Amino acid sequence: MKKLIVGNLKMNLLSPEERERYLSWLKKELAGRKDKHSEIVLCPPFVHLEAFKKWNNRKVRLGAQDMFPESKGSYTGEISPVMLKNLSCEYVIIGHSERRRYFGESNGAINLKIASALKNGLKPILCVGETREEKESEQTLSVISNQVKEALLGVSRAKAEQIVVAYEPVWAIGGDKVPTANEIMEAKLLIRKILVDLFGKKYAESTPILYGGSVNTKTVGGVCIDSGMDGVLIGRESLQPHELVKISGIINDSCVLK
Ligand code: 13P
Repeated sequence: MKKLIVGNLKMNLLSPEERERYLSWLKKELAGRKDKHSEIVLCPPFVHLEAFKKWNNRKVRLGAQDMFPESKGSYTGEISPVMLKNLSCEYVIIGHSERRRYFGESNGAINLKIASALKNGLKPILCVGETREEKESEQTLSVISNQVKEALLGVSRAKAEQIVVAYEPVWAIGGDKVPTANEIMEAKLLIRKILVDLFGKKYAESTPILYGGSVNTKTVGGVCIDSGMDGVLIGRESLQPHELVKISGIINDSCVLK
């Protein structure tokens, strides 16, 4: 299984010019690399998906940052999974903590989105993770457990292979603090156990479990390689093509050395 390096570009790249600068810089950075063990997935804002599709770089897969669970109709302001599919998206981030926090997304709403993404042939990247308060009151594992179980309620075994889970502690996003490799491993083991309980060993073992939150070239060794994660979900550093490609290279090279 290739390691996944997912760039969540969030609400950035404010103009077509800025997007074009980003894409041509990224193309240059990617030109010299042949990473066989890692794969970059970029999730730009919806308005840029078409341009990313046209850019059509074979070294980058495409994803979206969210979606609505219905396919079509009177849902002002929303984006359908069918639209994403038609713009060549393979992945869609679901349940990011910023959506839980600013848009009140519940585990129930996230569950509907996961089911719809899978039904429409998209691979959902389910984000889970505890807040600072939850960590301080030692609720980390119970929060992760509830989030994973409720988000995946009713998902069939046959679809399990399409799911990606990202452990993103809310307190580690956008700052400079990251969990220890042991804390991340503990979260990963718990998530893997829940997946095994839900889908059986055969399917659950192939589900990629990523880490997200302040990933950069300095932290990636501890948060991904040492903790045995299947990849990373990157915010800020994905806006810097050279850093994104460097992180992908570090993870790729760690697989070669093994
Ligand atoms: P940062 O990498 O900026 O901490 O953001 C992480 C994140 O939220 C990715 O989804």
